[in-house]
Amino acid sequence: MTIRTRKRLIERVRKRVLIRLALAGLGVAFVMVAGAAMFVLWGVYNVSALQQHTEPVYSILNTALDRSISQRAEEIETPPLDDPAMAEQGLVYYRDKCVQCHGAPGVSRGDVGKGMTPVPPNLAHTADNRTPAEIFWAIKHGIKMTGMPSWQFIYTDEEIWEIVAFMRQMPRLSPAEYQAQADASRSGDSIPAQATAERQYTVKAGTILPDPERGRLAMYGYACIACHRIPGLVGPRADVGPPLAGIAERRFIAGVLANNFDNMVHWLRHPTQVDPLTAMPDLGVTERDARDMTAYLGTLE
Ligand code: HEC
Ligand code: HEC
Repeated sequence: MTIRTRKRLIERVRKRVLIRLALAGLGVAFVMVAGAAMFVLWGVYNVSALQQHTEPVYSILNTALDRSISQRAEEIETPPLDDPAMAEQGLVYYRDKCVQCHGAPGVSRGDVGKGMTPVPPNLAHTADNRTPAEIFWAIKHGIKMTGMPSWQFIYTDEEIWEIVAFMRQMPRLSPAEYQAQADASRSGDSIPAQATAERQYTVKAGTILPDPERGRLAMYGYACIACHRIPGLVGPRADVGPPLAGIAERRFIAGVLANNFDNMVHWLRHPTQVDPLTAMPDLGVTERDARDMTAYLGTLE
């Protein structure tokens, strides 16, 4: 056998081995994809809220959550939080919006918070384990797939910092102290969240140009996606209201109001004032959020 024929032989064998390996790889990939498809389509996965993940999956998810929050909180600058008035105001927001899920000193979570998976954690000691910036980030952005809502279209940054200031006091509050403060502020003249957000916007009015990207996120924040299909947003593809593609090109809003920027802002804030019979509810949209959302709607083709 000459050297040449031997080389050719080796080459042929190598090719065959490579082809078999490639086929085997394809086979394995196919089985995996088919397995995953069957897992999904046959409904093997139990989505019951009482069926907790296995211990390893649970701890992987928790690590991912911890890392995700701390990475994203790194850039956030923490303002001074020691003013007792801040914590006092934060308590009001906490009492109104958070207790139902997280509970408070001496107060049980409500029925919604009891049956959720993952269970909303007791936040009494969160301020010992997380930095203020991390807590701020979690409140502002919410946590996907856990039921923790994003609060940035309900509270301004300043208001969220007040909640953080309160959470730092929480470990030291006895149930009786919490109750006393919560009751005291109930009878007082605390400003509802929307009103403060509003006031803050009008102060800066004229200087803020509407921000379409913020408007896009706001449409998740107000759950517009629960009723409308909106290009650029992922959701249940519901048609409770009309799809909003090309909305800026329509002549009338909801068939009754001439379609321009100011009227759209007005519609988004007070649809039932425009048309008392409309099925679109008033959602407590602030002026700023409505302007940002209108700017985004204007980009839709
Ligand atoms: C509908 C229920 C619900 C409401 C209302 C709610 N949360 Fe949550 N929250 C959750 C759930 C669920 C988690 C995530 C649990 C986990 O860690 O897996 C969470 C997580 C958090 C975390 C991160 C905790 C950590 O260390 O991982 C913070 C901080 C927080 N919530 C604060 C708040 C504040 C402040 C409010 C009120 C403005 C609030 N939450 C309202 C359900 C809720
Ligand atoms: C509970 C369901 C629901 C929610 C939530 C909702 N909408 Fe609507 N929306 C409707 C319905 C229904 C109509 C049709 C109203 C009519 O014609 O009277 C409508 C109409 C509209 C229109 C006018 C459409 C047209 O063709 O003239 C716009 C724009 C709009 N909604 C935007 C929004 C935005 C932005 C949000 C979130 C801030 C939102 N909607 C939240 C149900 C909803």
